[in-house]
Amino acid sequence: WAGSVERNDAGSLTVGGVTVQELKEQFGTPLFVMDEADFRARARAFKDSFDAAFAEICGGVDVYYAGKSFLCTAVVKWVEEEGLRLDTASGGELAVAARAGIAGERVALHGNNKSDAEINRALDMGLGRIVVDSLDELVRVGDIARVRGEQAKVMLRLTPGVHAHTHEFIATAHEDQKFGLSMAADTTDQAGLSAAEEAVAAASAHPGIELLGLHCHIGSQIFEPDGFALAAEKLLRFLAAMQEKYSIVMPELDLGGGYGIAYTPVDTPRPAAEIAEAMAAVVRSTCAELGIASPRISIEPGRAIVGSTTFTLYEVGTLKTVRVDAPAGSGAGEDGNNVTYPRRYVSVDGGMSDNARPVLYDADYSAILASRTSTAAPQLSRVVGKHCESGDIVVRDVYLPEDVAAGDLLAVPGTGAYCWALSSNYNYLARPGVVAVRDGSARLIVRGETEEDLLNRDMGA
Ligand code: LLP
Repeated sequence: WAGSVERNDAGSLTVGGVTVQELKEQFGTPLFVMDEADFRARARAFKDSFDAAFAEICGGVDVYYAGKSFLCTAVVKWVEEEGLRLDTASGGELAVAARAGIAGERVALHGNNKSDAEINRALDMGLGRIVVDSLDELVRVGDIARVRGEQAKVMLRLTPGVHAHTHEFIATAHEDQKFGLSMAADTTDQAGLSAAEEAVAAASAHPGIELLGLHCHIGSQIFEPDGFALAAEKLLRFLAAMQEKYSIVMPELDLGGGYGIAYTPVDTPRPAAEIAEAMAAVVRSTCAELGIASPRISIEPGRAIVGSTTFTLYEVGTLKTVRVDAPAGSGAGEDGNNVTYPRRYVSVDGGMSDNARPVLYDADYSAILASRTSTAAPQLSRVVGKHCESGDIVVRDVYLPEDVAAGDLLAVPGTGAYCWALSSNYNYLARPGVVAVRDGSARLIVRGETEEDLLNRDMGA
């Protein structure tokens, strides 16, 4: 939950002093409700703790907020005001950055398949860095910049082969996936050279490229600092070897994002300061051992800044109860009698179109009755959406008071990252708006779609 979320005396959930009833009345449901002060505080916490941990190592850390987790112009403004930079991954995200007016040198561009138009846009905006993902792309970026009579500022994204313990689809530093330049030997046609080394050699020789340094991102929703520290060590060793072999200096090292948050009470993320300290310790000792000055370190947190700032507000509609088999090993039914138990389905007015994470990654969320309190007994419930799919689950298992009824409001916390960003119009549902609450007032930072928006692109029969 975001910092300012609490219950008022009447039992309503409030955020920044605004009740969920007021939010519903003003903006409707479903609605993403974001605590602006909480966003700013989490952004600052990353910047301050990493700055402190790395102050003596490299003078501080550049924190690039990963806009893919949630992006709009208001957020870009907050990010800037809190002293962070912005990480983008497409021309569309660059367009948001441009509209927000952030200086190009504070913006980075990612992507494993950047178009020529996106590369040109990045150069037009004077981007601080383009993170190149492959040998192919390195040549394309370099050639486009050369034709323009410029040098593109480039970081090379490497795959350090560190296995992060997270869902397969969001783990990104192992070999067999689409991102990055492999550090394993003999991965290219040049005997003995890894793709990563071939890229360093090509980048430092290309007249259209200024090679800033190296980048890695080992995955997402990671709790333990070890993976980040190991990746940092591997990249530093490689950086030192390349600097020596090619007589170059790479002044920057980006260690990506991926810091986990708590979606449910079983999740145990570490505070930013603890992760920063663990990473700083490895960078300090590795640089000392290698006898090199530490490059300037940067990181790219998305989820850990925005994820917990937001909850989704839904209205309850249809309810139904079924009897299901007791789960194996639960003890229930083992005497041969009570082999089923009730599960109540609580349908809400959104679903997989505003939160695809349960269906995509089996992600767990929680939910609470937000519009009132209840002394009714807790009942095992499954919160589901209104889409035409049985996998359209918002919260798989949650205890809600048994008197929850149509018209009640539910709040699902932890939906700030990769929910609105991954939203769709499945079943022609309009995407919800996003409201920022601060000091007792709420304002739309992204308006919800209307039926007209949905029909606008239909060109007619
Ligand atoms: N940097 C790079 C290069 C990335 O690819 C990502 C996330 C980040 C930074 C930010 O990672 P974060 O700090 O937010 O974990 N849709 C998935 C997550 C995909 C992550 C994609 N890349 C989910 O909902 O869990």
